[in-house]
Amino acid sequence: MKRRKFIQNAALGTVGASTLASALVACSDTEKKTKAAAIDTQNKNAPVVIATWDVKDATAAAWQSLEKGNSALQAVIDGCGVEEANADGQSVGIGGLPDRDGRVTLDACVMNEHGDYGAVLCMENIKHPIAVAKMVMEDTPHVILAGVGAEQFAVSKGFKRENLLTEASKSGWEEWKKTAQYEPIINIENHDTIGMLVMDKNGTISGGCTTSGLAFKMAGRVGDSAVIGSGLFVDNEIGACTATGLGEEVLKTVGSYLVVELMRQGKSPDQACKEAVMRIVNKSKNYKNFQVGYIALNKKGETGSYSIHDGFVTTTYKNGINETKKPEYFDKL
Ligand code: GLY
Repeated sequence: MKRRKFIQNAALGTVGASTLASALVACSDTEKKTKAAAIDTQNKNAPVVIATWDVKDATAAAWQSLEKGNSALQAVIDGCGVEEANADGQSVGIGGLPDRDGRVTLDACVMNEHGDYGAVLCMENIKHPIAVAKMVMEDTPHVILAGVGAEQFAVSKGFKRENLLTEASKSGWEEWKKTAQYEPIINIENHDTIGMLVMDKNGTISGGCTTSGLAFKMAGRVGDSAVIGSGLFVDNEIGACTATGLGEEVLKTVGSYLVVELMRQGKSPDQACKEAVMRIVNKSKNYKNFQVGYIALNKKGETGSYSIHDGFVTTTYKNGINETKKPEYFDKL
């Protein structure tokens, strides 16, 4: 579809009458009113792509994927894949900073509009874990594959094994070994863990999250990014959320699920992200020393975000405009 036509359709919020009619079949009157209201308003802002950090190439790739008529899920794979293939980015895909043994291990997951989920954890030697996660979801009876099993599965699907430890990341690791002090650094992930939420022109939502995790982590450590409800949660009736930052803290509060449930209760994406961040701030004495940021998207196509500290940015592609924004943050250092 031509770009102009795509944007026109998006602006008009095209939903076929037959879609509306079929969605209303077998509903009670109250349910019908609620569903009709949701469907009526859901597409005003669609399509929309939002991602953690300054990743305009990734959001542009997702947008272009939608323009080609691909699904929201495929747009997530295409968008996140750009960062995974970027050897200069040191926290996603190739070039990710390694664990303390010098191994680059990757975590990624996806969720689609049906609530299906697929993930790979602690996978080595494969550049595109998000695409492998989609295949775990679609082509296996499981939802998570980890370690060597995930790598073998990827190879069986045609992925090429390659060395993900670039010279720059190797030097970073060798430098780190001089002190071997382990301390997650606020916003070290800048240009990191890419979490992406996509709504297509019909209001269908999917999401994905991909990371090499914390630099110099213990061997076998897995963070939030590939764990359903923590690094990512999608409920196509309500919205979606994805996280970045110190995964241990996101995991302990099941952050992305929390944000979606708060939106279900009527909070805006901004309010829901803020409340989830405050849950961490209020529980963790140590919050001054780490960053967590959330981005969220609701069924109306509204986006929101919030982080503990300054430094977090988001990228949104909406109405044909690809822009980076600095969200509100708590920050009382
Ligand atoms: N948020 C990425 C990680 O903690 O692994």
